[in-house]
Amino acid sequence: MDATQWDERYRASAGGVWATEPPAAVREIVAELTPGAAIDVATGDGRTAIWLAARGWDVTAVDFSSAGLALAAARPGADSVTWAHADVREWEPAASVDLVVSCYLHLRDSAAAVARIAEWVAPGGTLVVIGHDVDNIAAGGHGPSDPAILYTPELLRGALGDRFHLVRCAQVVRESDDAELRGGHASAAVDTLLHAVRVR
Ligand SMILES: C[S@@+](CC[C@H](N)C(=O)[O-])C[C@H]1O[C@@H](n2cnc3c(N)ncnc32)[C@H](O)[C@@H]1O
Repeated sequence: MDATQWDERYRASAGGVWATEPPAAVREIVAELTPGAAIDVATGDGRTAIWLAARGWDVTAVDFSSAGLALAAARPGADSVTWAHADVREWEPAASVDLVVSCYLHLRDSAAAVARIAEWVAPGGTLVVIGHDVDNIAAGGHGPSDPAILYTPELLRGALGDRFHLVRCAQVVRESDDAELRGGHASAAVDTLLHAVRVR
């Protein structure tokens, strides 16, 4: 989807599209880290960025959807985040950071996008990527149905090369709690989770 399509999706959902907190797997990883500088890649309506900022992180959050960023800016705590309206395939941070988080960014060339955002992690810093796994389609989970844009552990692992120590790179199953599902059926969703630390 391009930025215009994302804008339409955000404008159509008055109450927010996703859950109000980051995915549980992301919360668990970040809870073990000392706060520093962070980038939330494709922040959407800002749930991860605002959650991080509330825990002491100095957060820059990037997304190419102005409507998503408008929802984010209206959330309590939004003032403590630096918002960047940009395409993550072109945007560059001013400096590398202690934590880069990417939740559910699905592009035609996801491996290239992950390799690119991995460059923003400082030596010793942490990269967390979570997205819909290709097996989510067969599992009937909420999310995109085009396998070409979905993740596998192999894809994410291959994007990093030997620049990172892999703490975990695996499928994880969660109960989907996206706001779009509220009032409808909750479903199990299959994600790929990457947790890696940049070697010094
Ligand atoms: C499924 S949403 C996830 C939002 C957020 N990360 C979360 O988990 O709540 C995907 C987001 O990626 C953004 N996005 C997609 N392609 C992008 C790109 N090339 N540059 C910046 N943002 C992009 C969309 O605007 C959308 O907000």
